[in-house]
Amino acid sequence: EFLLKHPKGELPLPVREGTETPSGIDVGGLLKETGHVALDHGFMNTAACESKITFIDGDEGILRYRGYPIEELAEKSTFLEVSYLLIYGELPTAAQQAEFNGKLRMHTLLHEEMRRFFDGFPRDAHPMAVLSSAVSALSTFYQDSLDPFDRDHVEMSTVRLMAKVPTIASYAHKKSIGQPLLYPDNRLGYVEDFLRMTFGVPAQEYEVDPVHAKALDLLFILHADHEQNCSTSTVRLVGSSQANLFASVSAGVNALFGPLHGGANQSVQEMLSEIHRTGGDVEAFVRKVKNKEDGVRLMGFGHRVYKNYDPRAALVKKAAQDVLAKLHKPDPLLDIAMRLEEIALADEYFVSRKLYPNVDFYTGVIYKAMGFPTKMFTVLFALGRLPGWIAQWREMIEDPATKLGRPRQVYVGASRRPYTPI
Ligand code: MLT
Repeated sequence: EFLLKHPKGELPLPVREGTETPSGIDVGGLLKETGHVALDHGFMNTAACESKITFIDGDEGILRYRGYPIEELAEKSTFLEVSYLLIYGELPTAAQQAEFNGKLRMHTLLHEEMRRFFDGFPRDAHPMAVLSSAVSALSTFYQDSLDPFDRDHVEMSTVRLMAKVPTIASYAHKKSIGQPLLYPDNRLGYVEDFLRMTFGVPAQEYEVDPVHAKALDLLFILHADHEQNCSTSTVRLVGSSQANLFASVSAGVNALFGPLHGGANQSVQEMLSEIHRTGGDVEAFVRKVKNKEDGVRLMGFGHRVYKNYDPRAALVKKAAQDVLAKLHKPDPLLDIAMRLEEIALADEYFVSRKLYPNVDFYTGVIYKAMGFPTKMFTVLFALGRLPGWIAQWREMIEDPATKLGRPRQVYVGASRRPYTPI
């Protein structure tokens, strides 16, 4: 049963790690020894790719962008510097950064016709749906930057996306709360202006809280890339058909929409609120998770690639503590989150399953302290992930070896059946 008929001969069927073959060989070990068994369900998966952008060692809990450890970038760089690094491959000099920021400032405004586009959405539309539609619509308004093989077009679509997505994201929020949209103010920094457009109101001075701006900048850095995750592989797959950057990124936004990917921090926040609402008994909650009672699940723990602490989670946890301490805003949900982590990390059940907090575990606490509604959490993830999507798309387009993506499908349905009319 472990053999798959294949034109090149008989190949082993993809089986899960740890599965015992009839001869009693652990398949996980066999993979390392002979390379004959793919653990990937789509054996010989053609969506696999090489990249020079992000390095992850999930066993050691290491994450690097272009060779720089995430911890160092989080401490020493701004989000725009990290965006430059991801997209162009090098940390910028002061002159390069000033030029990049200047270009972005020239493109923060949306086409006036796009306002009518926003008007057409129902007020209760999820801001992520508005974001993906608006990003897709950029292809209609900016037809001078759609050619993936023209350097100037690629550069213009890169700049336009980086500049306009914060404007679109804050418009999506304003739309959902029925407030008028605010025009960008290019005297402010990237994150600062996004906060003003999101939380400010017309004709009133809005003072950006530097603690909020710093924390959001950090969160964007931590979300900026994570190699072949669901949304990034979508951007690459769509882009491999030579679709333009706006269309490819809009597909990535949609891939991020789901609760298992970008929506995960929203699920964590809902779980923490539920524990709080029902009396805050964390031990009882953990017991339920272990006994799989009432379909209770521990959200924000475990990660497909990290079998160790997600390095981003450690940085987010610290930022959450700092933000709440500086704002003198105790949050019972943060206390519940930390208690949950403490109990889980001391429990053999979670340790043996290598279930550690991931990046989504503490992010919602910070977003909430800043005043973002839960529906905006995924949009914030998209804002942070944007330079990663752009960098991955550009790397793929620039590689002459890129082929049209076509992940393998293993047919497991009925074999040929005689046609019998009903
Ligand atoms: C991400 O940052 O994209 C998430 O951790 C999900 C992933 O990497 O698969």
